[in-house]
Amino acid sequence: METRCREVARLIREHGNGVAFTGAGISVESGIPAFRGGQGLWEKYDPMEYAEIRAFLRSPDKVWFMLREMGDVILRAEPSPAHKALGILEKVGLLNAVITQNVDGLHQIAGNVNVIEYHGSHRRLVCLNCSYTSAFTEESMGVLPYPVCPRCREALKPDVVFFGEQIPPSASSRAVLEAAACKVMIIIGTSGVVYPAADVPILASKRGAAIVEINVSPTPFTSSITNVFLEGSASTILPRILDELGLACG
Ligand code: OAD
Repeated sequence: METRCREVARLIREHGNGVAFTGAGISVESGIPAFRGGQGLWEKYDPMEYAEIRAFLRSPDKVWFMLREMGDVILRAEPSPAHKALGILEKVGLLNAVITQNVDGLHQIAGNVNVIEYHGSHRRLVCLNCSYTSAFTEESMGVLPYPVCPRCREALKPDVVFFGEQIPPSASSRAVLEAAACKVMIIIGTSGVVYPAADVPILASKRGAAIVEINVSPTPFTSSITNVFLEGSASTILPRILDELGLACG
């Protein structure tokens, strides 16, 4: 592991121009469960009943039951050592961007500025009828059966991409630009099974970027595009890479 961390540190130092592509695994140590696997949210809630846009429009009260639970966990969560490590890498100029599938806003809290929220943000509410937006707060969570738009009285929805919705066009185009230009892509804590998000590292690989992957277990990327696989927790491995770079992890 030490040799691999050193190799990744060398790739990052020599090329600069790194981009991170993150998924739910990076936030597990912040106390936010992932979607798939034993403790996964989709084991408890069927995504076609709770995360599909027509299901939301049909029964916002039912879907808000899960959204409130998720929101409560997110608002309490703090960045993990892995989030903090990415914040430092951007600050010292070794990371250009974080492209995240996560909706928890923890990368920004950890200090990353160029964050592309591919699946939107749970920290914002949006009205699908009139586009009104507001912050997702403790107060909005307390409104039963769900918060409504003050302008048109329609149900507000966290500004996250539900199944059946489009990826926000600006996130999609920014992600393509970063992936096509980077020299090193670090894939962290994602199962890599949700598209079009999973196309982002595939594009980086096609354009010649070295692909580093950090995960507690292999994924479809591991045997296809990954050049260096670091098996283990992101919050253990990223601080080790920073250590190899001579950087302290906050
Ligand atoms: P998943 O739950 O599918 O995968 C989480 C990944 O993190 C798995 O590969 C785990 O092995 C890995 N993992 C868990 N703990 C880890 C740790 N401490 N360190 C490193 N890796 C760890 O989550 P995503 O891949 O993010 O979409 O899911 C992709 C999308 O599916 C989500 O954005 C969400 C979901 O449906 C929408 O809601 C649109």
